Amino acid sequence: KETVQIGLLGYGTVGTGIIKILQTNAHNIAQKVGCPLAIKKVLVRNPGKTRNTSFNVPLTTSIDEILNDPDIDIVVEVMGGESPAKDYILRALEAGKHVVTANKDIIAKYGKQLFEAAEEKQVDLLFEASVGGGIPIIRPLKQCLAANRIREVMGIVNGTTNYMLTKMTQERLDFETVLAEAQAKGYAEADPTADIGGWDAARKIAILASIAFNSRITLDDVQVEGIENISPDDIEYARELGYAVKLLAIAKESESGIDVRVHPTLLPHHHPLASVNDVFNAIYVRGDAVGETMFYGRGAGEMPTASAAVADIIDAARDIRHHVSSRILCTCFNQKNLSSAQH
Ligand code: NAP
Ligand code: HSE
Repeated sequence: KETVQIGLLGYGTVGTGIIKILQTNAHNIAQKVGCPLAIKKVLVRNPGKTRNTSFNVPLTTSIDEILNDPDIDIVVEVMGGESPAKDYILRALEAGKHVVTANKDIIAKYGKQLFEAAEEKQVDLLFEASVGGGIPIIRPLKQCLAANRIREVMGIVNGTTNYMLTKMTQERLDFETVLAEAQAKGYAEADPTADIGGWDAARKIAILASIAFNSRITLDDVQVEGIENISPDDIEYARELGYAVKLLAIAKESESGIDVRVHPTLLPHHHPLASVNDVFNAIYVRGDAVGETMFYGRGAGEMPTASAAVADIIDAARDIRHHVSSRILCTCFNQKNLSSAQH
């Protein structure tokens, strides 16, 4: 293949970052893949919108122009939401295209159906950017820690709420002001109630738990409480008592199966997660062989998230070059076996 061609669905925060990295690091990426990568077309809702014009990419409002184009090898979905994104991903897989997505809503809810479609067509479905922004966590959990029986996965997996709690603590700003700041920085979901209500973190821990415990864990399995009722006064009282308030996502083995939860938690100031601030995320994984590991970095935002998505694009492009596929198929999404996970 002379050039691997990409169809990009979405030119918002993450889509812009992907275009920037693919253009800025084009030479370096081509060397890693063995051929150049090119964005053939970008699907948007509103082609008249003002965008970063230094990037010369052809826009379209027709998904068929991308899915029916035999030259497009990889479809990258960074539109967000369930519909029509899920339908577009499924159609792309059925058309034999490799798919990269940052969409945790879809992986958490439709992972089973989508991975079956990917397996059927022997194509990659990669989703490193769906959890932890720029932090490597899907591959480490799925591959590097595969030898372990995982006992616990726990951490801060939502950048928006961690940014908000940090600002409410350090600058005593009110809830609405810090939410608006997180939105302006491109951290929040299109509907920020998914962030502040804990649902974004719940989808992410469902994905991590499914991989860690090799058992399909859905949103229904997660107990969820968000930060909507936390005020600067609550945070100040906690601080005076020696605690930081953090929204934690937790999945661990219990006697009845896997306990999966998201809720605000009081952490003593000396706890390693208490000093994870701003948009940073940190994910702690405990395995029976490796012991404790911790993954840390920027959990949201244009360039960190695009870093993870472009890494997936590079992997898919390498697979295309070498005529292999489905290197990280996720069979975990196929089995619902909470009470006896991993056995
Ligand atoms: P965004 O800024 O809202 O961008 C969405 C893009 O998709 C826009 O370009 C929009 O077109 C396009 N789009 C949306 N619906 C469409 C439709 N029906 N038809 C055609 N185009 C459509 O979103 P984002 O923040 O980049 O997030 C994208 C995905 O990445 C989401 O799944 C999100 O959860 C995930 N993610 C985001 C971050 C982050 O930090 N932002 C981090 C990790 C994962 P227009 O430009 O024409 O409106
Ligand atoms: N809204 C998400 C967050 C984006 O704030 O963490 C990254 O998945």
